[in-house]
Formats: sequence, structure tokens, C-alpha cells
Amino acid sequence: MSPITPELKARFEKIVARYPKGQEQSAVIPLLHALQESGGGHLTTEHQQAVADFLGVPMSKVHEVTTFYTMFSLKPRGRHHISVCRTLPCALCGCGDVAKAVRERLGVGPGEVTADGMFSYEEVECLAQCHLGPVFQIGDTVYGDLTADKAKAVIDGLAKQGGR
Ligand code: FES
Repeated sequence: MSPITPELKARFEKIVARYPKGQEQSAVIPLLHALQESGGGHLTTEHQQAVADFLGVPMSKVHEVTTFYTMFSLKPRGRHHISVCRTLPCALCGCGDVAKAVRERLGVGPGEVTADGMFSYEEVECLAQCHLGPVFQIGDTVYGDLTADKAKAVIDGLAKQGGR
């Protein structure tokens, strides 16, 4: 069964319509975002194949996008996925301490999910918020000027909220 529901197909068609004729394959990133949002927060092989079929491109073209950009995940993530920037400007500002604090607070390593499914964590390249370093991103929110204590406080706050 295709992971592309009629609603998702309509959304895909609307996205692809924004691109010039013959350039529809450029819609691969927004289509993957739409599918990841609707597909439980990660992309399976079936999801990637469905996008490839929809755009009429080889599966390898879709897979190379999903494996290059860290905003796409090929395995389940926690309800709150924390992306800690590890690139040089943030590293010079202490992102190592932030990453360590996240690991300690969650008790998981990069790419792992907490036992309650609430959090997952990974270290990523520049989040384009270098002026705020060190930073991490959770969902659409970027947290800057982090310290180990601030990072733990953000996680504590989300843990208190439970599910969103
Ligand atoms: S280096 Fe961390 S946001 Fe750019």
C-alpha cells in the first residue's frame, strides 16, 4: 500500500505545481518534509520510493537527499528531537559542553531515543545561527547562547510538558 494518501497526494501536487515545467524533481525536499511530517517523523524505504515514483526519478536521487540533510531521519526519533550544532563557530563557543550536558540529561548517545520515546539527540553541522552559538534546535525552535545548565533547563521544561 502506498504511503501517499489522497490528502498527501493533493498536497504533493500543490507543491510540485510551484516548480517550472521540467523542474518538478526540484520538489524532492518539500515532498520529503511533507511525507516525514505525516509519516510518524521519519522516512522509510517505502516513503522514499513513493517520492521517487511520484517525481519520476530514480530512488537513488531521493535517497541521496535523505542521507545528506540531517533534517530527514531514516529511523524513528523521539517526540522532541534535539539537533546540537557541532560546527567550528559553535565548537569555539562551547558546544562540546552542551552536547555532553544533553547526553548526560537524556542518558542516550547520538542517534538514540530515550526509553520513554520523548527525546532523541544528534550532533549536526551548522544550523545557520552561528551568531547565537552554541545552539541546538528542537522542532522548529533554535535555542542559542546555550550553556550546559541552560540546555538541561530547556530539556527539563519540555519533559514537564510531556507530549505536545
Ligand atoms: S556553527 Fe553552529 S550554528 Fe553555525
